[in-house]
Amino acid sequence: MLTSKAKLLFQKKVLNWYKKNKRDLPWRKTRNPYTVLVSEIMLQQTQVDRVIGYYLKFIDRFPDTLTLSRARKRTLLSYWSGLGYNNRALNLQKLAQIVCKENNGIIPRNEQSLLKLPGIGPYTAHAVLAFAFNKPVPVLDTNIRRVLIYEFSLDEKTPLEELKALALDCIPEKKSRIWHNALMDYGSMVVTARKTGIAPLSKQGTFEGSDRWVRGNLVKLLLKSKRISVNSLTTQFDENQLRHVINKMLKEKLFILKNEYLSLS
Ligand code: ADE
Repeated sequence: MLTSKAKLLFQKKVLNWYKKNKRDLPWRKTRNPYTVLVSEIMLQQTQVDRVIGYYLKFIDRFPDTLTLSRARKRTLLSYWSGLGYNNRALNLQKLAQIVCKENNGIIPRNEQSLLKLPGIGPYTAHAVLAFAFNKPVPVLDTNIRRVLIYEFSLDEKTPLEELKALALDCIPEKKSRIWHNALMDYGSMVVTARKTGIAPLSKQGTFEGSDRWVRGNLVKLLLKSKRISVNSLTTQFDENQLRHVINKMLKEKLFILKNEYLSLS
């Protein structure tokens, strides 16, 4: 898809720029997958500048999964208050409780296990793998998507799967962590939305894990396969949230539920 010369030029340009211009962000000082995860969940809904203070206070109060798993909800939510989407904080605590029970409190380091945890979708799973474990997986947030579209003169409608393949191809060997940090900074400071006019993808980042995101995905899945068992969906979505969204959609008569099988009405 890309000549190796074009790829090397792009890598050099972004990495050289980053060396001189990188932002000093607290979650870049850690490789702890738990704190990386906390930062990514916060960053999905809030601007970097606002997240910094919340992040520092949160990890000071809840420094590990065990502390978070045992926190009182009202304490937890008081540390989230002002960030919005409280569901994310509650999911984060559920996640902490699950890994404490099943995995010695350790955040898994593979995609499949990460995706089974509440509140973690494909974007967040890849962000944790890249930033905590330096794994060569594409992290395609709004900024990075814009950089790729702009730098390679692509159509804004280029399907995400295609962009992901390109993003994967661009990752310099053994440098996934620094590369993705560099791309995010380059995107938010140089190849900005205002400069390029490239619109964000509404369903990316900010919406991942939200009720609307679950809803959109359910409809998409049902358009593909007609009938799906609710049980099979619990590996992709948080079960409580899934039931909640399904109930709402049943009330709106969008879905039919029969013997625990879901279909569009
Ligand atoms: N947005 C999402 N993840 C980010 C990160 N790790 N650094 C800066 N902005 C981000």
